[in-house]
Amino acid sequence: MSDRFETRATEWNFNPRIIKMFHAFVGQFRKEIPLNSEMNLLDVGGGTGLIASDFAESVNSITIVDSSPATVKTAREHLKTASIENVTLIENDIVHADLGDLRFDCIYGHMSFHHIGQIDLAFDRFSKLLVPGGVLVIGDLNSEDGSFHGEEKVPHNGFDTVELSAKLLFRGFANIRILPLESVDRPETGALFERFFLVASKA
Ligand SMILES: C[S@@+](CC[C@H](N)C(=O)[O-])C[C@H]1O[C@@H](n2cnc3c(N)ncnc32)[C@H](O)[C@@H]1O
Repeated sequence: MSDRFETRATEWNFNPRIIKMFHAFVGQFRKEIPLNSEMNLLDVGGGTGLIASDFAESVNSITIVDSSPATVKTAREHLKTASIENVTLIENDIVHADLGDLRFDCIYGHMSFHHIGQIDLAFDRFSKLLVPGGVLVIGDLNSEDGSFHGEEKVPHNGFDTVELSAKLLFRGFANIRILPLESVDRPETGALFERFFLVASKA
């Protein structure tokens, strides 16, 4: 399978637009979700490990599952340089990754869910991987016209948050809250893309 992140992985952590989005997500996350040293987190499409690196000190463990070999390689180097030892990397699609009997207090994904083709299977999986009362957090694009990725096609042109909530309710999630997340601009298109921050808990 081709790796769509291959050429971008090494410069990802130095891209000002990525860093701005990262700060917006992490800031909102820390406001909404109290982290503690007993928590085990799953980072879906964790990319180069920017977010996991920020959370690592506050929790027991983080498992990153990411399907891009180039991105996982960059994450591995980044975590090693930062001497972070409680973050595990798994290179695979989130739908197929072998997670053994791991269970999580929080599953989150930032700008990764719109890349997941089998999103319904992923949600089925998350409902089983979360402990009772565990939380799912999604930071992603609201529905857009496909121009966010230019010529590149992705499985979802953002999400309709009402439809997304219905999928989660169907799988036993409750207390779904949808908040705005800082918009992101694409100077090359001249457009501003709205984003959301969704929190749902597993009953
Ligand atoms: C736009 S990047 C976001 C990276 C990171 N979350 C961040 O905010 O910097 C999307 C990431 O999701 C990963 N990804 C896409 N589809 C995936 C899937 N089905 N399973 C696991 N990872 C996936 C990609 O390889 C990529 O690293």
